[in-house]
Amino acid sequence: MRPEIPAIDTPTAHSPRLWNYFLGGKDHYVVDRQVGDLFRLLYPPIDDVARSSRAFLVRTVRHLATAGVRQFLDIGTGLPAAVNTHDVAQQVAPGARVVYVDNDPVVLAHARALLHGAADGTTAYVDGDLYNTGALLEAAGRTLAFEQPVALVLTNILGHIPDHADARRIVAELVAALAPGSHLVLADSTTDGGRFDAAVSMWNQAGSLPYVLRTRDQLAQLFDGLELLEPGFGPCGLWRPEEGGIGTPVAVDLFGAVGRKS
Ligand SMILES: C[S@@+](CC[C@H](N)C(=O)[O-])C[C@H]1O[C@@H](n2cnc3c(N)ncnc32)[C@H](O)[C@@H]1O
Repeated sequence: MRPEIPAIDTPTAHSPRLWNYFLGGKDHYVVDRQVGDLFRLLYPPIDDVARSSRAFLVRTVRHLATAGVRQFLDIGTGLPAAVNTHDVAQQVAPGARVVYVDNDPVVLAHARALLHGAADGTTAYVDGDLYNTGALLEAAGRTLAFEQPVALVLTNILGHIPDHADARRIVAELVAALAPGSHLVLADSTTDGGRFDAAVSMWNQAGSLPYVLRTRDQLAQLFDGLELLEPGFGPCGLWRPEEGGIGTPVAVDLFGAVGRKS
C-alpha cells in the first residue's frame, strides 16, 4: 500500500532533509538534526552508508557516461548534494540528458533552484511518483528518447516502497520501458538484523515517510533478467573503488549493482 506523501512540514523530521544531513549537506532543520543524531547513536555507520552511496552513484554514472550512455533517469532525486547525477554525466558528456523525478514538495522547490540556468533542455525535473510509472515515463519522455539506451538510477528510494511485490513490479515496469543497452543502477540499505533495524524503526515512528530495510537477496532479485556488470551485486563501497581514492573502501550495509538490459 502506498504511504501518504507528506506536505511541507517543518515540525516533523523529513526524509530528504535527513539524508542531506547524513550526506554532509546544509539543507536541514533542527528537527532533522535531532532525529539524525539519535539515528547515529543507534547506528553509528549511517554516515558511511550515506557517503558510500553517493560515491557509488558518482562512480557508476561516470562509468556509464564514459561507456557512451547519454541519457539518465534518476528517480528519488533527494536534495541537491555536492555532486549530483547531472554534474557527473555532463562533465563526461556535456550533451548528456538527465531527468530527475521526485514526489516531495521540498525537493521540488530545491530542484527549481538547482536547475536554474540549465535552460538548454538537457536537464529536467519531473514532479512524479514512483508508484505511477506510466505517468512518470510519459513526463520523462519529453526530455529522454526511450528508443535509445537510458541509465535508470534508483538509489535509496526503494526502501520507501515497503511492499516487496510493489518494488519488484515497479522496477520491472520501468526496465520494460527501456531500450536494449540500457542500465539499472540500484543501491539500497540492507537489514543487519540489529542496530540498523532499530534506528530505522525509530525513524519510522519519528519521521515523515517510512523506510524498510530489505535483505540482500530481496535487493538482488530486483536485477532479475539483467546482466550484472563486474563485480556484480555486493557492497556498494566495493563496486570498482577508484585508485587514488581517499582511504580504504568500506563495505557497509548498502548493497547494489549495475545491471544491463540486453
Ligand atoms: C533517501 S532519499 C535518496 C536521494 C538520492 N536518490 C540519493 O541516493 O542520495 C529518497 C528520496 O526518494 C523520494 N521518494 C520517496 N518515495 C517516492 C515516490 N513514491 N516517488 C518519488 N520519489 C519518492 C523522497 O522524496 C526522497 O527525496
